[in-house]
Amino acid sequence: MNWNLEEAITHYRAMGTDQNTLVNLLKEIQQEQGGTIPLFAVPQVAENFGVKESFLLAVIRRMPSLRLGDTHTLQICGGPNCGKHRALAEAAQKLESKKLRVSFVPCMRMCGKGPNIKFDGKLYHGATPELLKQLTKEAGI
Ligand code: FES
Repeated sequence: MNWNLEEAITHYRAMGTDQNTLVNLLKEIQQEQGGTIPLFAVPQVAENFGVKESFLLAVIRRMPSLRLGDTHTLQICGGPNCGKHRALAEAAQKLESKKLRVSFVPCMRMCGKGPNIKFDGKLYHGATPELLKQLTKEAGI
């Protein structure tokens, strides 16, 4: 079974919102995301634990074992419906850089609303190459 950020947050959130639980969640995120905590996880964790993003970032910086990543992520649905949109896939590949990790994932199970993408963990329907350009521009990539 694939690791899922939302499920991990729900799991830890059920144990409480104290700082130890928060740090344990951050450690798991870091481990599952290849050694750093991705930027897109920060607002989701902060919201679910009822803390400000600035507080969460301070916790991450204070803990020597935690590292914040600086890479944005773009997931493109490669399922049978969304995968037909070659222009979107080609635009995504052109945008890949040190600051943007692009990956193609299996069907996101919302085929009727496709093509679907996730940028920094946020889902977008009806994605176009123009949307990709807009999102990366807004993120300063
Ligand atoms: S093919 Fe993209 S959501 Fe199913």
